[in-house]
Amino acid sequence: MFASSADFNRAEALRKELNRHNYLYYVLDAPEIPDAEYDRLFAELVDLEKQYPELITVDSPTQRVGAAPLPEFGEFSHRIPMLSLNNAFTDEEVMAFDRRIRETLDADNVEYNMEPKFDGLAINLVYERGVLIAGATRGDGATGENVTQNLRTVNAIPLRLNIAQPPAYLEVRGEVLMLRKDFEQLNARQREKGEKTFANPRNAAAGSLRQLDSRITAQRKLSFFAYGWGVVDGMELPATHSAMMEQLAGMGFPLTRLRATGRGVEALLQYYRQMGGQRDQLPFDIDGVVYKVNSLAQQNTLGFVSRAPRFAIAHKFPAQEAMTEVLDIDVQVGRTGAITPVARLNPVFVGGVTVTNATLHNEDEVRRKDVHIGDTVVVRRAGDVIPEVVSVVPGKRPANARSFVMPTHCPVCGSHIIKLADEAVARCSGGLYCSAQRKQALIHFASRRAMDIEGLGEKLVDQLVERDMLHTPADIYHLTLNQLANLERMGEKSAQNLLQAIEASKNTTLARFIYALGIRNVGEATAKDLSYHFGTLEGLLEATGEQLMAVPEVGEVIAQSILQFCAEPHNREVIRLLQQAGVHWPAVEKLTAAQSGLSGKTFVLTGTLPGMSRDEAKALIEGQGGKVSGSVSRKTDFVVAGAEAGSKLEKALELGVTVIDQDQLLDLIEQSKQTM
Ligand code: IVH
Repeated sequence: MFASSADFNRAEALRKELNRHNYLYYVLDAPEIPDAEYDRLFAELVDLEKQYPELITVDSPTQRVGAAPLPEFGEFSHRIPMLSLNNAFTDEEVMAFDRRIRETLDADNVEYNMEPKFDGLAINLVYERGVLIAGATRGDGATGENVTQNLRTVNAIPLRLNIAQPPAYLEVRGEVLMLRKDFEQLNARQREKGEKTFANPRNAAAGSLRQLDSRITAQRKLSFFAYGWGVVDGMELPATHSAMMEQLAGMGFPLTRLRATGRGVEALLQYYRQMGGQRDQLPFDIDGVVYKVNSLAQQNTLGFVSRAPRFAIAHKFPAQEAMTEVLDIDVQVGRTGAITPVARLNPVFVGGVTVTNATLHNEDEVRRKDVHIGDTVVVRRAGDVIPEVVSVVPGKRPANARSFVMPTHCPVCGSHIIKLADEAVARCSGGLYCSAQRKQALIHFASRRAMDIEGLGEKLVDQLVERDMLHTPADIYHLTLNQLANLERMGEKSAQNLLQAIEASKNTTLARFIYALGIRNVGEATAKDLSYHFGTLEGLLEATGEQLMAVPEVGEVIAQSILQFCAEPHNREVIRLLQQAGVHWPAVEKLTAAQSGLSGKTFVLTGTLPGMSRDEAKALIEGQGGKVSGSVSRKTDFVVAGAEAGSKLEKALELGVTVIDQDQLLDLIEQSKQTM
């Protein structure tokens, strides 16, 4: 079967529509439709093309996902060489550049185009009659690598020009780069997988673009900005560089908003300072700015010296990487207990500030980068990112260099440092006890779904910890009216209210208490499962790994977290103190799934029940092994409807789901208790 003309037209319409949305999203940063709608259109095109492969075109957005790996890249000869730029490092050098130009042109002042110098890779894109047919790296300027398959995966690069009458042949030049946020995410993922991280966004962009398997490139988020052109055939060039760039924008190429034009050297230096001030906040790395004489006629007059144009110059910023020595390596404890090795450095000026510490991320990174105390290293500080050790400078290791040894105990609280087999990060097991983690632990402990201490929020916890009034959650139960009333923004009345809330919180449930402990990976649902399964806190505290994994939904990771938490004497001590302070809960009727009368039954609550809150109804249902879900489907067993029940009730009636009221729910629970 061949595609009908209707299929052909539909495929073409879909391609057009998808390419337009792609442009709105990746180039203009102004999407018109939700992602899900884009995905739907995309899926429709994929289906059509699967059914009729003859409908696939080179500009189809489905071709952006990458293709089979290549044995090697082919060579690509640039018909017009890709030149380099001369550099200026000082204001004087820029003044000399401007002076030479004015002299050659015999002009009083010259108009310049000013733009950032992107820190990525230069590429050349070739469009024949408006369709992208090839793309290559700069290489040595004369010959680059043919990376067409990879460039097709870059969403910001148009596969087809967005104009009715495209030029017969057009080369567009620009920079492929990786945004800082995408770089950080990529490295975090690489670190998680135990794979090699990239030193900086430029290396990440280069490594991603030079993949023989373009499906890998497709997974890396690369960006592109056009800054020039090469061969142009079948199109009249305008009078200026900036006008040509506007035309390229009209064809669908992304340009940076940071471009500007100005006259005279003062404008250049002002632009340089302005960009320098913004540099850290930009979404991508730049290593300077580029000035280009704007008039193309004047550019022609100025011409070239050896491999660089006379009409342009790069004005460089201070480097974001520098060399220095590692004086020591010690560890920092984060708010979640993560232990991070930190290099103490011989102070070095980099990225505009003096850096004395740089992160080494985790122990595996220290090993992978092979950093020793005494080594000379490359340090990088870019943007708001924490300075990091990028690499060791080979051949500079002194004879007395020492390797890093991960401490066994937390430097803050002395609890054991523990590392899970499949996690890169080591953590302090001090949990509730460790002051580095204290605020987080306390805020969580008091939160609504945990101990529910109304009024004890982030700001108050901050104050109490800062004034050394709270160390562990147990201290909450010893706060006095006097202490509280003296805090900022706290009158006697609110202090009294808080004390009442603290008192009320003593009467809790085992599930809430377990959740409040803030054991890693133990969320509310798991805490409930644990409470029903073990019935008592002692049962949980003494459980073996095997016993823990017998709880539905508890796997190896959760079991390990619980074991580690319970193994730490400090944590047991805090639990003891909490119970001593009067925290208690009613006995839990131990349930197993088979015994429970409501087990396997799903409930949805809607409207206002006359005698109980939603949370209470939920607790009752879950207490009998039932599940409470937020939306009605065919799988729902009961919808419990109260006053002013809305769309969920309608849906239940529509699907024929049993609808009950509060009394019927209570009956059901009573019955289920008897059957247990
Ligand atoms: S124009 C004839 N503009 O700088 C001049 N280059 O040293 C051609 N670069 O390999 C280059 N941002 O990768 C130009 N706004 C910009 C640039 C830029 C970065 C890079 C480009 C090239 C190198 C030249």
